[in-house]
Amino acid sequence: MTTPTIEVHLDDADLAQALRDDVRTGLTATPPWLPPRWFYDARGSQLFEEITRLPEYYPTRAERQILEERAPHIAEITAAKTLIELGSGSSDKARLLLDVFAPRGTFGTFAALDVSESALRDAVDDLAQEYPRLELHGIVGDFTRHLPMLPRGGTRLIAFLGGTIGNLLPAERAIFLSGLREVLEPGDWLLLGTDLVKDPAVLIPAYDDAAGVTAEFNHNVLNVLNRELRATFDVAEFDHRVVWDESHEWIEMHLRARQAMRVSLPAVELEIGLERGEYIRTEVSAKFRREGVESELAAAGFELQQWWTDPAKLFAVSLSKAGHQH
Ligand code: SAH
Ligand code: AVI
Repeated sequence: MTTPTIEVHLDDADLAQALRDDVRTGLTATPPWLPPRWFYDARGSQLFEEITRLPEYYPTRAERQILEERAPHIAEITAAKTLIELGSGSSDKARLLLDVFAPRGTFGTFAALDVSESALRDAVDDLAQEYPRLELHGIVGDFTRHLPMLPRGGTRLIAFLGGTIGNLLPAERAIFLSGLREVLEPGDWLLLGTDLVKDPAVLIPAYDDAAGVTAEFNHNVLNVLNRELRATFDVAEFDHRVVWDESHEWIEMHLRARQAMRVSLPAVELEIGLERGEYIRTEVSAKFRREGVESELAAAGFELQQWWTDPAKLFAVSLSKAGHQH
């Protein structure tokens, strides 16, 4: 068995600095907001895994169904030597690719990048047992900052699954996709999971489940701020709220104050006031149409080659090639 390597590009000091910067920017804006990456401490990563098993949360099952069917085709088209997964979490769906690629002797290397060190270490440990011949690299990093640290050489297939690209705002997506294209060579591949626009009657419960797991996931970001910044959020005084923004075609998750409050965040020398009903936007989760995905990819220098959906057309996985011109 080859021993996996773990590179840490985000140590405690980097994380603390990034959190302070994000909190200063986001919580002083109107309305206040927080970037979704702060959900994923060890508890948040566990809660996300629970979300993926909820009856209302269809994206994981739909994407898995697509990958189960298409993995052999993906192996054939790309003939990739290195698989790199961004925002890898438990790397559950990457296994579907590894299972078909590994017996062909195609993949030599699997690199997983995630901000959540605990989730990444657990995943890499499990993968090392399951795929003893694979060269494994765990990269603790931020996919908006650390793309230049990705492994080079061989034909690379970047997997960005789960619809996580939808957690970036459109301008952030453009920067992310062109940054990714910059670090790839012509002929490398991008396998991208995107959740699709659909009836809000299906979308809303996916983010507001009956068991309250997503509400707990949402509230958890305040626990992170309380712990890391000695903030004084009374977590129980916030309601989990989910809104479908028709004009932007995205879901927003909010934490809405049940009553007027003041919160101090001594580590960033900040005190904020919220009126009853005021909210913090904690996540945007954009839903896509094929035309939009294709044009965002093209603008960044990727050529869409395949577009696959599950039979119910809930979710799409696209395969694109890094083009020659960008
Ligand atoms: N790809 C998995 C997990 C999706 S959850 C799936 O499809 O089920 C989103 C994952 O992205 C989490 O593991 C979270 O820790 C990670 N993540 C969120 N923001 C990130 C960022 N800016 N950089 C790197 N990883 C990030
Ligand atoms: C990781 N990401 C794609 C999830 C989503 O659906 O936007 C995060 C999530 N938020 C609430 N439930 C799941």
